[in-house]
Amino acid sequence: MTSTKIIRHYLRFQDFSADDYDYVLERTRILKRKFKNYETYHPLHDRTLAMIFEKNSTRTRLSFEAGIFQLGGHAVFMSTRDTQLGRGEPIEDSAQVISRMVDIIMIRTFGQDILRRFAGNSRVPVINGLTNEYHPCQVLADVFTFYEHRGSIRGKTVAWVGDANNMAYTWIEAAYILGFKLRVSTPPGYRLNHALINSVHLSSVEEIDDPRATCNGAHLVTTDVWTSMGFEKENDIRKAAFAEWCVDTKLMACAQPDALFMHCLPTHRGEEVTAEVIDGRQSVVWDEAENRLHVQKALMEFLTLGRLNH
Ligand code: CP
Ligand code: NVA
Repeated sequence: MTSTKIIRHYLRFQDFSADDYDYVLERTRILKRKFKNYETYHPLHDRTLAMIFEKNSTRTRLSFEAGIFQLGGHAVFMSTRDTQLGRGEPIEDSAQVISRMVDIIMIRTFGQDILRRFAGNSRVPVINGLTNEYHPCQVLADVFTFYEHRGSIRGKTVAWVGDANNMAYTWIEAAYILGFKLRVSTPPGYRLNHALINSVHLSSVEEIDDPRATCNGAHLVTTDVWTSMGFEKENDIRKAAFAEWCVDTKLMACAQPDALFMHCLPTHRGEEVTAEVIDGRQSVVWDEAENRLHVQKALMEFLTLGRLNH
């Protein structure tokens, strides 16, 4: 059977327009309210989500699995440890087979090229659940969290302190699409790789060496682990290089007095952020984690059913 339906994937933050984000964020608000009111809402009745994990996860797995269940569907968890993917079955073949049996697919993998090849052979929407290069579901949750606490992020200043990793590259795309300023401070030797950035997006980014100057007047300060999954061998050398890139109370004091602090989690207290900050009054990390559930429900609904009026 062939289908002429255009399939939309969510592989990078730039895959959606500002107008799509307005819609998805509004749906998130509605779906979160339904969830808080124990209102049954099953638009994805009988639909199946395949979740493929090539790296560890707590939040992504739980939020997608609980999310599809709450929408009336069902999740299948697959990992490279116990599927043929771990024994070298080509990613293209896996995509052909898996996408004939389910309605939507989420993948957490290594290179973005793996995700692209998978999506290129999939008959159903594919969602990026984190790659080495991007983590769009997380930044979507972060933007929604900002919106809940402070309103629109448009025109605001976000300070990124730490590694030029998948979160940083996703924030860059978000800054351009949603119209805010992103300041990035990374240690020498760990600067942004401009080859990975759409040159148009660079207009929304300011690279500043000094983390204090980066946070100066910011409305949101955010960071992430110094060593991401897949780079564990570099851990010791990174610990030395990143020592000054720790978000502490002095750094937070450079930002707006009501600035928020975000971290995608998991965190290493005492490394990229002090306990005082992440457990302090400006931190919204638990809302941020919970909002993964709500934004991804809106995302799955949007990718499978398109725009709804209710
Ligand atoms: N933030 C995030 O994606 O967490 P997990 O690695 O636990 O999924
Ligand atoms: N940058 C981190 C995010 C974890 C959710 C990593 O890729 O390990």
